Amino acid sequence: MTEKASKNAKIDPWGSMKIEDYSKTIKEFGIEPFSTVIKKVPEPHKYMLRNIIYGHRDFGRVADAIAKKKKFVMLTGLMPSGKFHFGHKMIADQIIYYQKMGAEVYICVADIEAYTTRGMAVKELEKLAIEEYLLNYIALGLKPSRCHFYFQSKGNATYNALSKMVSRNVTFNELKAIYGKESLTPGKIVSALTQVADILYPQMEQGSCPTVVPVGTDQDPHIRLTRDIASRFKDFKFMPPASTYNKFMSGLQGGKMSSSKPESYIALTDSPEIGRKKVMRAITGGRDSLEEQKKKGGQPHKCAVYELYTYHLMDDNKELKSVYTDCVSGKLMCGECKKRCGDMMAEFLAKHREKRECARKDLGKFLKD
Ligand code: TRP
Ligand code: SF4
Repeated sequence: MTEKASKNAKIDPWGSMKIEDYSKTIKEFGIEPFSTVIKKVPEPHKYMLRNIIYGHRDFGRVADAIAKKKKFVMLTGLMPSGKFHFGHKMIADQIIYYQKMGAEVYICVADIEAYTTRGMAVKELEKLAIEEYLLNYIALGLKPSRCHFYFQSKGNATYNALSKMVSRNVTFNELKAIYGKESLTPGKIVSALTQVADILYPQMEQGSCPTVVPVGTDQDPHIRLTRDIASRFKDFKFMPPASTYNKFMSGLQGGKMSSSKPESYIALTDSPEIGRKKVMRAITGGRDSLEEQKKKGGQPHKCAVYELYTYHLMDDNKELKSVYTDCVSGKLMCGECKKRCGDMMAEFLAKHREKRECARKDLGKFLKD
């Protein structure tokens, strides 16, 4: 393989690992720190500036395309898994950002993957993908022009052929090395090769061009596989895709944010009141007593409220910085801080609810093919 992860390190894209140490991930998997390219990015997204997008592979060529206004593709796949929450919003924000930067946007619903690896029903997946994901994407600002939205199970003939033809460019031993030989199943192989086709197919429509796939670290095995396969194709000139890696938000109560634990997330369809309540119940980096907090200051890096500000609710860097300084200096107490966050959350959710209702009339523009 051209891109080896170090021997013992393994990521299971179908597992549920929580990565604690991103600098270790960078070393073990050969991901580049995002700081190596950020200067080339004309208008970096706040996730880039805040090191939430912390790593990349080959992003330089995408930054170049943005700067020179050349053609490039942004592709992502979504696995419908229940309520659309603020963790999912991170990918939506990135899709919309790249669309604004001039990308041809491809969004694929990974219904084959969900069907084969999670035992879900295709009909149910279709409803979830549209009602939970697409509708929220539109409400958040996704536009229909230069946007291709499709289902793995309904992709066109060329895409379907590609998803099988990619198999010629990988050996069974390589698949076992990437995904772990004990846990590899035919369903996972089909899912992985379908994902390779998802990522390479846009270049069959657009011609060879830079492609960026923004993902969480768990998807890196698929990215490595795709990059290897792309470079081996003889009959089509694929440019190996670039990728970026974002950190995941923690659950509101600490631990992982998970679709199966409603108390761990705020959904974008939660009512303003529920959203506010969940913020008020969230774990903070506060100390045991007010006195101690005044003396030692709070710990924003351990605080779910501070995460909500950083990832979603505060676009203004100065405002965020002042929360940080007031927190660590012991000037700001958690009660007051949470109340402010709860107000901001309630306002966001109330506005979003209206936007969602407006978005409904535009669904047809995305589902044309
Ligand atoms: N495997 C991805 C997930 O579990 C979904 C997916 C399918 C995907 N095709 C993709 C992600 C292409 C990025 C690019 O969420
Ligand atoms: Fe978190 Fe705010 Fe408390 Fe600091 S003051 S620990 S940012 S809730």
